[in-house]
Amino acid sequence: MKNSVAHASTTAGVCYHEVTMMTDLVTIARSLFAPGKGILAADESVHTATERLASYGIPTSAEMRRQYRDLFFGAEGIAQYLSGIILFSETLGECGNDGTLFPESLIARGIAPGVKVDLGTEPISDSPQELITQGLLDLPERLVGYKKQGAVFTKWRAVVRIDGDTLPTAGALHENARRLATYAKEVQSAGMIPILEPEVLLSGNHSRARARAVIAETFGTLFSVLDEHAVDRTSLIVKTSMALSGDASGKKDTPEEVAEDTVGVLMETIPADIAGIVFLSGGQTPDQAIANLKAISQRARELGAPWPLTFSYARAFQEEALALWQGKEENVPAARAAFLARLKEASVALG
Ligand code: 13P
Repeated sequence: MKNSVAHASTTAGVCYHEVTMMTDLVTIARSLFAPGKGILAADESVHTATERLASYGIPTSAEMRRQYRDLFFGAEGIAQYLSGIILFSETLGECGNDGTLFPESLIARGIAPGVKVDLGTEPISDSPQELITQGLLDLPERLVGYKKQGAVFTKWRAVVRIDGDTLPTAGALHENARRLATYAKEVQSAGMIPILEPEVLLSGNHSRARARAVIAETFGTLFSVLDEHAVDRTSLIVKTSMALSGDASGKKDTPEEVAEDTVGVLMETIPADIAGIVFLSGGQTPDQAIANLKAISQRARELGAPWPLTFSYARAFQEEALALWQGKEENVPAARAAFLARLKEASVALG
């Protein structure tokens, strides 16, 4: 089935193209877990992308955001490691430096374009330390547009904050789960794959055992709400944090400890028939995120985990490249080389 891509005007010029899309959800989901491949999360909102560029001293503007995307998407050889890239909606309608729409250029290289469809978070009125994700109101209309622009999968991120035994509250977990379920149904009926990402934050002084317990509660709640809403599990992907001690706990987990708790809790709480599980890096260093992925993959194989697993990192893949790039054309080759080196390590880590 063919799908026209809307004409797009960007600072790089105007480009007109057509995108041929796969429409079979199971085929799309399977392709995202192709051996040795995973997903790049490049879906930072305008606000987050601006903050990230500024933190490396890079000028911030729409054009610099477009160049930032091109730094990664234009790197030769990424298709060897990437099955998909999650874009921000702005990027779906932009062209790379080669004058081709980003989604079309990805599809031409066998990389599935995805899009973040939530509209960010806001504090919950009766529990202001916790956040609820926005974006359901006009979601069906937006999905039609994203699909026309070439997106074949989507992401919705909820945030789960740990504070001692008081946070998260059951109410916040349940409301975020309800919204994830509504999102998943809308996306599936629009003919795309939903990635459900309830991110359990690394920030805090909690233990790894507490992170594991919170991940268990998060997925326990989520899958019971998905059942209530009769969401088709076979064409959804879960994006999860690893079970890690909080970043202010002073504890450094070994990859074996992380793998034991992460694979353990996922086996206890995630049904066997989902399409697969992807991991976020969540503020780990690139080395940690890759070493932990390697141990998790190995442990999952040892235990005969029923779902395919892969990476879906943003910061762990991008931060070294951004530091090298500094927004300067002459630094693009070195920045791309650093990015590709991390992609290769993550691919090898999958085993
Ligand atoms: P990090 O890998 O930087 O955690 O980002 C992944 C992501 O998609 C966050 O929503």
